[in-house]
Amino acid sequence: MNADFGVIGLAVMGQNLALNVENRGYTVAVYNRTRARTEEFMEKKGQGRKLIPSYLLSEFVASLTTPRKIILMVKAGGPTDAVLEQLFSLLSARDIVIDGGNAHYSDTERRIELAQKYDLRYLGVGISGGEEGALHGPAIMAGGDKEGYKQVEQILTKIAGIGPEGACCAYFGPGSAGHYVKMVHNGIEYAIMETIAEAYNLMSRGLKMSAREMADVFGEWNSSDLSSYLFEITEKILRRVDPETGNPLVEMILDQAAQKGTGKWSTQGALDIGSPAPTIAMAVFARVISALKEERVRASTVLSGPDGRIDTDRGQFLQDLFAAVQITVISAYAQGFHQLQDASRERGYSLDLSEVARVWMAGCIIRAKSLTQMAKAFRDEPDLPLLFLVAPFKEIWEVSQAGMRRVVVQAHAAGIPVPAIDSVMDFVDAYRSARLPANMIQAQRDFFGAHTYKRVDRDGVFHTKWEEE
Ligand code: 6PG
Repeated sequence: MNADFGVIGLAVMGQNLALNVENRGYTVAVYNRTRARTEEFMEKKGQGRKLIPSYLLSEFVASLTTPRKIILMVKAGGPTDAVLEQLFSLLSARDIVIDGGNAHYSDTERRIELAQKYDLRYLGVGISGGEEGALHGPAIMAGGDKEGYKQVEQILTKIAGIGPEGACCAYFGPGSAGHYVKMVHNGIEYAIMETIAEAYNLMSRGLKMSAREMADVFGEWNSSDLSSYLFEITEKILRRVDPETGNPLVEMILDQAAQKGTGKWSTQGALDIGSPAPTIAMAVFARVISALKEERVRASTVLSGPDGRIDTDRGQFLQDLFAAVQITVISAYAQGFHQLQDASRERGYSLDLSEVARVWMAGCIIRAKSLTQMAKAFRDEPDLPLLFLVAPFKEIWEVSQAGMRRVVVQAHAAGIPVPAIDSVMDFVDAYRSARLPANMIQAQRDFFGAHTYKRVDRDGVFHTKWEEE
């Protein structure tokens, strides 16, 4: 038996992806560095399926029809390099290697160069949707060798999630385009998760609402324009009771957020190209601060502040909170798309942002109803710099900003941190300012470093001897 497709790496994502491909009628070769995992997989999930296990990489390669089509579902970084080093020398010219992990885009570019030396076709592909997505239909963001993509397009499209505008799989551009899009997807994911956490905190600490009451609010929001996967799971999380204590399970979870680095990479990428992604950055820093549990516990006994209670009309506050959350969530996407727009120009990806929005409509973690309107906005104006400039997002801003401002004021007055919501308020207010106080910064730079400045009334570059009258 010759396999149509190969999967290297049999952690849960790799296993589920292999099963997904097999479910579509293909014969799948599987390999894992440790033999035991492959054996366990075959025993528990492989019975009666068209799966070909191999226990040596050379056997795995030999079990595939040419040109070989192989996906790596291996830990990003060193482990991926270790597999590739072995794999490349075993393959034949024009075989196709797909990295389906969360690789850093610079690693993908380095690996593309290496693959070219072996005359291989290399694809950096972002796959989103967690374990369930991998099995039933993830969102697939491909980039790299275009000819290679054409040869695996059918398989990838068949295993992808189906959204309102078709299969959630697309080729986005050369080089690291696919992994870059996935990285920004994760940045947006961080920002939305932080926004939800802030809303939860305002309701729980500020309004003293119960988990069940908050679940009802998230359920309601999930049936509105905010309808999305992350809101859906938040309602479910709030309804889960800890069997040991009878408390809401979420209240029993330690308040230290972990991270594997993709939100940080997204922020670093934004800084590298001078793209404004403050909300994604604040979401990363919020996780960083949460991790400093011991320091926070100490500071909580040293530094005073308001007690967190928000004494206000609950109905009005919840309406305002909806407005704040809606604008913040849209802004997370808006900043992400802005970064993709900038990266596309800077790095030659030629991204079609309406396609990006379309692929994110199903399968992935940031899937949301509003992506349909976002796709349309970029279809109407491919170079649109910021979603808020056009309908319906402009109207949402107009209608909702007053409520959002009230939330920010009340949160600060109560001493409840809202870094994501706050950053959006500042971001949009700065973005819509025809004049910012950057003139003062330029004057200071010129004062202490003779860095020069431009004038508003005539062309040229100027320097002033500030200490001399
Ligand atoms: C996805 C997710 C996934 C990510 C996890 C955890 O699209 O399926 O983005 O790729 O690894 O969500 O990320 P953190 O550990 O950094 O929170």
